[in-house]
Amino acid sequence: MALRVLRTVADLHAWRARQGPLGLVPTMGALHDGHRSLVARAVAEQEAALVSIFINPTQFGPDDDYATYPRSGAEDLRLLADAGAAAVFAPSAAELDPPGAATTTDPGPVALRLEGALRPGHFRGVATVVVKLLTLAAPDVAYFGQKDFQQLRVIQEVRRRLGLRTRIAGCATVREADGLAFSSRNAYLDPAERDRALALSASLFAVRDAWLDGTREPARRRALALEGARPAGPLDYVSVADPLTLDELDHPAERAVILLAARIGRAHLIDNVLLGMDLAELD
Ligand code: PAJ
Repeated sequence: MALRVLRTVADLHAWRARQGPLGLVPTMGALHDGHRSLVARAVAEQEAALVSIFINPTQFGPDDDYATYPRSGAEDLRLLADAGAAAVFAPSAAELDPPGAATTTDPGPVALRLEGALRPGHFRGVATVVVKLLTLAAPDVAYFGQKDFQQLRVIQEVRRRLGLRTRIAGCATVREADGLAFSSRNAYLDPAERDRALALSASLFAVRDAWLDGTREPARRRALALEGARPAGPLDYVSVADPLTLDELDHPAERAVILLAARIGRAHLIDNVLLGMDLAELD
């Protein structure tokens, strides 16, 4: 079946009214194999998969890359048709965010540290647009990647606080053959920077191996992550955190998430590993 392209809220409502069980995959476009895996899961689990493509201005800070964020419209549509999505919702900024309408969603305490501290206002923008999309599309399940682990937790907590009906499914990080997590921002990397970026996943894999060998002390894991990530250059943060609250762990724990962020050239890159629990246990 041909991919339907919906540009307005009215089109979306009319289309949604004719659908049964629906999976939603919110994205900002410049689609890659990570996005594709979310779409594949929505297609497999629901009667129809809807993908939104919207570069949400409110989640970019003044120093962020809104103006240069990669845009690949026609290619994105080809990928979505090929992946079996039923429709794409790609509204203009004026359509989704009428000027003057400033009803926002508080992202809650999980948003305070890490990306939230580094990019003030970022998660308020994310929570606001995601709640809006969930309200407009009324999906049964919305699919989010583990790659943006803090974002996944913010959305799950917002959903819980608001009592939304849509379930929030976390999907494993998809990586290139050498370990680098797919990201739209990888397009910013030149070959030397891409080489440096590999240290992020390599260091997380080293921490995971140490975990499998029984290392449970957060300080030891933090040191290992730092050591392994050194070739990437200066890190924005390294965190060994509780996977539910994202509070920094200061005692040995049976489950943890290790999160890294670095600026490599123009790219802000993040990655993480979840240890001792399954993504499906989070929601
Ligand atoms: P975007 O960066 O386009 O990502 C869309 C979804 O794809 C997110 O849930 C993200 O976690 C997931 N994703 C990205 N890279 C992935 C990878 N390598 N493996 C698995 N999943 C991956 O995240 C956003 O857009 C926005 O903040 C959004 C939620 C759309 C709100 O504007």
